[in-house]
This record gives sequence, structure tokens and C-alpha cells, in this order.
Amino acid sequence: MTDLRVVGGELVPPAPRERRHLLSIADLDRDDVDRLLATAASFALSQARETKKLPTLRGRFVLNVFYENSTRTSSSFDLAAKRLSADTMTVKASGSSVEKGESLRDTAQTLGAYGPDVIVIRHPEAGAAEFVARVTDAHVVNAGDGKHQHPTQALLDLYTMKEALGRLEGLHVAIVGDVLHSRVARSLVPALELVGATAIQVGPPPLLVPELCEATHDMTAIADADVVYVLRMQRERMLEGANFVPSLREYTARWGVTPERIRDGQRVMHPGPMNRGVEIDARLADSDASLVVDQVRSGLVVRMAVLYDLLTAGPVPVEATVEVA
Ligand code: CP
Repeated sequence: MTDLRVVGGELVPPAPRERRHLLSIADLDRDDVDRLLATAASFALSQARETKKLPTLRGRFVLNVFYENSTRTSSSFDLAAKRLSADTMTVKASGSSVEKGESLRDTAQTLGAYGPDVIVIRHPEAGAAEFVARVTDAHVVNAGDGKHQHPTQALLDLYTMKEALGRLEGLHVAIVGDVLHSRVARSLVPALELVGATAIQVGPPPLLVPELCEATHDMTAIADADVVYVLRMQRERMLEGANFVPSLREYTARWGVTPERIRDGQRVMHPGPMNRGVEIDARLADSDASLVVDQVRSGLVVRMAVLYDLLTAGPVPVEATVEVA
């Protein structure tokens, strides 16, 4: 997602319909992140009004295709498109011809025949979003592909941290739990690095990914963090019979994030859905330290910003601040 390109030795803005995708945090540079977060902040102002709908993407079509369950990502992309006056359609694999064995290529090309401007796709296989970008003409947003990437989650997490803590540069984030199966961690760590923040992962060694960032099994390491980012134990992605942790009870005893393990001033995040009483204590999830609901709220305006950024060029226009009657 670059704003400028070189043509004839000169830097020029992209053509309005230049095709771009958001498949991975690696698609973004620091300027992209700053621009997206600033755009999200402008949209947040519009969402505080009584009438929340903007005319910005009127006539555009955003197609959501979900091969895996979702509450937050699917609802926020749908609402984001609606708040920008785009047409939306959501297709879930469950109940569709995917269950009759239709391939991803055929499904993408079938739905692509309706001419979506953007396809938002979640799929259990890494690389699925990139594949859809290759076989359709739409801008593609990766809404989660297997253990690989979930870039809009990382963007909404950065937005939430900036709103709550007033800065990103220099923040230290402890990511606790099941990093191995987490596309959220694989997106968040490089996103934090892009903005000058640091990360450490904490959890049982079989669930850590040492090549991602500093890693330790020692929970006392979370004491230095500004934000403790708790990951869901992804039991559905754990191979049957593989012993990642001796038991959930022992996991909770050693790595569960509780009020007693959090110091004053630390903030706690979780991408959801939470396993209350497993990786996070319910008292903490509902406490003033928790930013979980803020993350959901951020998801709407950040996804508005992503859709806007893919389909237009330049700063948020004046008409984007004018509500639709
Ligand atoms: N964080 C997240 O992706 O949540 P959903 O699975 O509910 O979309």
C-alpha cells in the first residue's frame, strides 16, 4: 500500500483504481501505518455523531467471504462498508457450495463475476488471500489465513494502543500464550517493529516461535510490559494427541493472566474470542485495565480506513466528514 510511485523519474500519486491488496503487514511501511491510523481517527469522529453513515464509497461493492467462523472481523467489515455507503454481501462457506466440494478458485471466480471492488477473505489455509488476489480482479484484504497473517487485527491493535497510551514508539508489549498457532502474533510483532515498539512472547516453550521475537517461559517477564496481550488457546488448531501443554489446568496455573499478575498502569488486550478462566481471568477481562471492548470499537474505524485507503487515494476528503441523511 504505497501512496507514491516513480513514473518517468518523478514521484506521482497512484491512479485511483491502481490495484492494491492488504495481504500481510509486510505490505505496509511506516507511512502506510501512520496514514491508516490517522484515517481511522478521522472516521472515529464521524462515528461519534448521531448519523454515522458517510457517502464516501457509494456505488462500491465489498464482498466478505468467510471460510472460518468469525464474529468481530466479519461484522466489522460488513458494518465498515455500510457506514461508507458501499454495497456489501457476506458469503460463509458453511451452507454454500463449498460444502459440495467447490474449489477456492471456482468460488472466488464465481463471486468475482459480480464485480466486487474489494474481497475480504478469511480462510484456514495460509496463502488463500494471496491466491484470491491472483484469480480475481478485486482488491483483496486478508481477514485471516490459517496461522499466517491477520493484518487488520494488528492495525486495530496499534490504533487501540495509541488511543489508550498516547504513543506507539517505545511501547513494550508482552504477548502471552499460544503464539505457535497465532496469525495475530505473526501480524502484531512486525507491526510493532514498524512503529518503533518492542515485543516479547511468554508461554510454554512448545507454543512459542523464537524466530518471531524474544521468547521466554518465565511469566515474570510481563512485569516490564506496557501492554500484556493475551492470546487465545487455539485448541481447534492443535493436532490431536500433540502435547503442547500438560493440561489446560496447568496452563492456567502457570501462564493464565490474572489481576494478581498485572501491575498498576498496565493495560491488557485480547483479540477475542476469549476463553475466560483459561488464558485470561474473567475479573481482568472486565476490569479497567482491559482494552478488549476498545479493540472491537477500533476494528470498525480501522476497517473503514482500510477499505477507504484501497479504493481511493489521498487524504480523507471533505465529503467523507459529511453524513448521509
Ligand atoms: N479477533 C478476531 O479475528 O475475532 P473473530 O474471529 O471473531 O473475527
